[in-house]
Amino acid sequence: MVSHFKRPTRIAVVGTGNVGATFAYALLLSGLASEIVLIDTNHAKAEGEAMDLNHAVPLLPQPARVWAGTYEDCATALITVVTAGAAQRPGETRLDLVNRNVAIFKQIIPEIVRHSPNTILLIATNPVDILTYVALKLSGFRTNHVIGSGTILDTARFRYLLSQHFDVDPRSVHAYIIGEHGDSEVPVWSLANIAGMRLPQYCAINHMECQPSILEDIFQQTRDAAYHIIERKGATYYAIASGLVRICESIIRDQGSVLSVSSYLEDYYGISDVCLSLPSVIDLDGIERVIRLDLSPAEIEGLRKSASVLKEVLNSLDL
Ligand code: LAC
Repeated sequence: MVSHFKRPTRIAVVGTGNVGATFAYALLLSGLASEIVLIDTNHAKAEGEAMDLNHAVPLLPQPARVWAGTYEDCATALITVVTAGAAQRPGETRLDLVNRNVAIFKQIIPEIVRHSPNTILLIATNPVDILTYVALKLSGFRTNHVIGSGTILDTARFRYLLSQHFDVDPRSVHAYIIGEHGDSEVPVWSLANIAGMRLPQYCAINHMECQPSILEDIFQQTRDAAYHIIERKGATYYAIASGLVRICESIIRDQGSVLSVSSYLEDYYGISDVCLSLPSVIDLDGIERVIRLDLSPAEIEGLRKSASVLKEVLNSLDL
């Protein structure tokens, strides 16, 4: 039933593979969207996912309309979430996917833009920082309307692993992973805190272990998590789907939440013309601003290294 006073909140999902389908389910459960349209080159797959999701609606506190559609259905979508593309196989890095997925983006981004010039593009396809940049260039959108899921997932992993070590709720650990969503990502140890205390202070006053070797192991587990999961179950999708829902929530509800997402940088510690993740304020118009962090010299060096890894890949592309 469409009210004549309240515009429906439509979210378009391009790609109904593991990540796209899981995101659509998580979004449906969240109650954030009143319309969810699934788009896939394999239309039958999108139809099957829509049918299965619709059968959950009678059991949920908040109804929504879910259907398999076309790019025309993106027309009134507040957010278009792009998950389409090849996924990492065991032994592959995210950057190994670049040529296959850039070719796919050259097909789908113009289609989305043609029908929905005002949508916010939320990119999840890997390598996500590269494809966020590619989506920005192909779409011609304003930079605030092109967001990559980036290190929202790595930051969640980091907080979870720190919470297990310090025995607190993961939501009470404030720590960020910045840079590439990938092997060159950077832990911001200098600003990580619990109860307002940076970790060395927290450990000293609370008589807890904080040896560098323990913290380094936590970061390595964070950085390499996807490889270990893919080795075991073939893909990752639950946490990335939840990260995408969290970004959508801050947009739909105009929350202004600070989330580590990938976006186009212009002069951040001298880094420019690349997309990578930094804590950013996310609201109804996408990225309201990228937050300036008081990084340590080592963190600045790591961020610049991450940017150079990504720019080397970008320079190899024919955009
Ligand atoms: C991961 C994928 C989504 O890190 O890049 O699980």
